[in-house]
Amino acid sequence: MSKIMLTNITKIYGEPKKKGLLPEGTRAVDDISLEIPDKSFTVLVGPSGCGKTTLLRMIAGLETITLGNITIGDVDVTHLEPGDRGIAMVFQTYALYPHLTVWKNIEFGLKNARIPDYEINKRIKNVLKLVNLEQYANRRPANLSGGQRQRVALARAISKEPEVFLMDEPLSNLDAKLRSTMRTEIIQMHKNLNTTFVYVTHDQIEAMTMGDHIVVMNEGLVIQTGTPTEIHDEPNCVFVAKFIGDPGMNIIKLGSNKHIGFRPRNIQFLSDDLVVGKDDVVIEARIVAVENHGSEKLYFINFGKDHIYIKDAEKEMKEMGSVAKILIRKRDIYAFDENEARIYDEAEVNNIYDEFRIMEVKL
Ligand SMILES: Nc1ncnc2c1ncn2[C@@H]1O[C@H](COP(=O)(O)OP(=O)(O)OP(=O)(O)O)[C@@H](O)[C@H]1O
Ligand SMILES: [Mg+2]
Repeated sequence: MSKIMLTNITKIYGEPKKKGLLPEGTRAVDDISLEIPDKSFTVLVGPSGCGKTTLLRMIAGLETITLGNITIGDVDVTHLEPGDRGIAMVFQTYALYPHLTVWKNIEFGLKNARIPDYEINKRIKNVLKLVNLEQYANRRPANLSGGQRQRVALARAISKEPEVFLMDEPLSNLDAKLRSTMRTEIIQMHKNLNTTFVYVTHDQIEAMTMGDHIVVMNEGLVIQTGTPTEIHDEPNCVFVAKFIGDPGMNIIKLGSNKHIGFRPRNIQFLSDDLVVGKDDVVIEARIVAVENHGSEKLYFINFGKDHIYIKDAEKEMKEMGSVAKILIRKRDIYAFDENEARIYDEAEVNNIYDEFRIMEVKL
């Protein structure tokens, strides 16, 4: 059992003025309570500075906890040393010893843990096989590629046979292609090892493709948790709606200060073969820019004071500067209140939609 429970966790950096008082520095994590399910692939995702690394380091025991407590399985680890928590952590910068070979890099941590030599040899052989680096045991980090170095770091973590793997943006130093290969390898690793993974990233695509449990953070708070589909299809506020998606949800602020949202893929250019229903909205707007992504085009469009994106799969590309008719269907819209919280009440959503329908969009 390696469920992780965070209860009212707060981190304020800095020293308190007096013993017993709270420090007065940055409140990096603000009263977070969170359950990380056993054997899940949990991803902490959010913009830079939102407190992801701080939270992960508190779980690892590398950072003191200002308030609150953490349990792993049935054990309260709040005051335990990192080495006593049954975790292994992989960092963005690999953190390999440059003067040691791949083999010695892995061996080092195990020797410290007083594991017998025959067991150490067996484990190193196994993990090198797992990450496909058997041929590289005698190389030093400087003579490896970035992806290979990151795999050594992963192998070193696996060799400790932890109950929980913590990873802080482990792929951000790799180029796009390698990153996508390594993503798949880490997903596979999670399946094979059958342990709890907590993975930090600011990249929502990485979060959505890798995680089975997503935790969206902002400004030291947890904003929403759920499966990738829940987070994408049922965002609870404007922040999550805009943060998740490639690009995120289009949000239009209405005169009443409420908001309406729709996904770039759910709106279309009006064409002869589209039937306009009585609940649909057709709006004229100007195309400001277009990006050709091969199978899809991404249009950037002026929409009154706002801008919106449309993702369109039509082969033919519309011209920059031209005016197009856009069709928005009622079933695709989301409504948010003046504080940017999601509105679920159907009657209220209808009112907001009616306000949107009569909105005048100047070209
Ligand atoms: N050692 C520290 N001392 C003081 N403030 C810190 C320290 N480490 C982080 N902070 C602050 O705490 C907040 C959260 O930082 P943290 O590194 O946890 O963010 P993050 O979500 O990991 O960001 P990134 O995506 O850029 O890595 C930030 O405002 C940061 O400036
Ligand atoms: Mg960080």
